[in-house]
Amino acid sequence: MQNKSLVSITDFTKNDYLKILDTAVGFERNSYQNLLNGKVIATLFFEPSTRTRLSFESAINRLGGRVIGFSDAGTSSISKGETLYDTIRVVSNYAELIVIRHPLEGSARYASEVTAVPVINAGDGANQHPTQTLLDLYSIRKTQGKLTGLNIIMVGDLKYGRTVHSLLMALSEFNASFYFISPDELKMPDEYKLYLNRLGLKYHESRELNGNIKDADIIYMTRVQKERFSDPIEYEKTKNSYVLKEEMLSGTKENLRVMHPLPRVNEIHTDIDSNPKAYYFQQTENGVYVRQAIISLILGLKS
Ligand code: CP
Repeated sequence: MQNKSLVSITDFTKNDYLKILDTAVGFERNSYQNLLNGKVIATLFFEPSTRTRLSFESAINRLGGRVIGFSDAGTSSISKGETLYDTIRVVSNYAELIVIRHPLEGSARYASEVTAVPVINAGDGANQHPTQTLLDLYSIRKTQGKLTGLNIIMVGDLKYGRTVHSLLMALSEFNASFYFISPDELKMPDEYKLYLNRLGLKYHESRELNGNIKDADIIYMTRVQKERFSDPIEYEKTKNSYVLKEEMLSGTKENLRVMHPLPRVNEIHTDIDSNPKAYYFQQTENGVYVRQAIISLILGLKS
């Protein structure tokens, strides 16, 4: 992993995932380790973020590093017409590592191709969100005691949801069974279903949430993302497709955990927040340890 960019979850191997998870366990035990010793990391967010940006920045600070960057591209010279190419070339002179979120699919890959500095994709449009996936794997292993052979239900915007796209690819390494629940307009794209077909992995699809969660180990809820729709009428039609309520968890497996990359709008009712099966807030905490692990391994500060 040393000096490698992390753009797609498939840039790393199953062994890499496990190495990151094991390293993150060490950071959960002892999060404040001065490994970066003042090294500078850039966080370039061309799209809004709360968790990803702040957990990266928390991770960098806990490692004794310094953060430069922006949370609003409008305050950068992009607003004067500077290209992504020029921005990345320039920032490469200022930082050891670049974390980038951008609304365009492929932007993080492009950034990684125009610099020798490692690039971490913090979400590129509807494509991939690999660091979210690694914290999701960490959360799943922590709550289930294993990663192999689990029943995973993915609910909501499976078409534009970058978190479910990269999570599906990672979990395909662990013989998962998938249930995709979405409105017709937001179904899991064929390319991901073909990916599972090629690996001989099972999946089912449905429009119905009720009655389909009894065998689940993980319910992975997602938000219908207003910002991805070109047609506001399509968003209005689908935005309230699913609301998971506490009463729907009765009769589900003891080990079931409800996950969500967040932010949520109304797809998980707040009456679930205090239920022991709700895991989405702990999931955000895990993001700090996992991002500490990713940074340390890419920069060769852990081996
Ligand atoms: N999970 C996630 O990517 O959240 P943010 O958009 O707040 O970073």
